[in-house]
Amino acid sequence: MRSSATPKPPRSHTPVPSDWRPEVERVLITDAQIARRVRTLARVIERDFRGREVVVISLLNGTVLFLADLIRHLSLPLRLDFIGVSSYGAGTESGELVFTKELRLDVRGRDVLLVDDILDTGKTLSRVIPKLRALNPRRIKVCVLLDKPSRRVEKVAADYVGFEIPDVFVVGYGLDYAEKYRNLPFVGVLKPAMYQT
Ligand code: IMP
Ligand code: MG
Repeated sequence: MRSSATPKPPRSHTPVPSDWRPEVERVLITDAQIARRVRTLARVIERDFRGREVVVISLLNGTVLFLADLIRHLSLPLRLDFIGVSSYGAGTESGELVFTKELRLDVRGRDVLLVDDILDTGKTLSRVIPKLRALNPRRIKVCVLLDKPSRRVEKVAADYVGFEIPDVFVVGYGLDYAEKYRNLPFVGVLKPAMYQT
């Protein structure tokens, strides 16, 4: 599933919708490419968890669109919970991590699927995973929509990755800049001018 099987988005020639053109430089991953890839990920996850009940734990807020699309393709008995984690960093760098919502479901002895939007430096997941491990689940598998391996500073990897992307700041399909752009149906590269001012 990792490395070779993880697609890099092909250079997209899809134009940025006119409403977003002042802020978004280019479409990195189209909604159709996302939809296709999410279905493939769901099939692989389904196979790996076959016959088990899964606790899906999603990190707020960036996962909302990805999570909704992923779980509707998972024909597995599952329960859903959320962990709120916010990084008090300025701009595009992740800073101090603050937990804004704690887990409510009991995961002891359970199979956990941890879902996040993007694996960047790895600081978030390297804090969250040990916190979950301490609750003694049977196993934890990590699923992220996007992976930026060139930015990694912590030793953490995901088991299921939607797309491997280069070191560009992206927004849309749940991902934000200063809480904006989460509603774009595609993943786009934000114009640097939007965060350099
Ligand atoms: P990490 O802790 O550096 O791995 O980053 C994880 C979090 O940083 C993600 O869950 C996002 O909220 C945010 N992040 C990292 N890269 C991007 C990006 O390109 N666009 C939007 N958010 C990002
Ligand atoms: Mg975020």
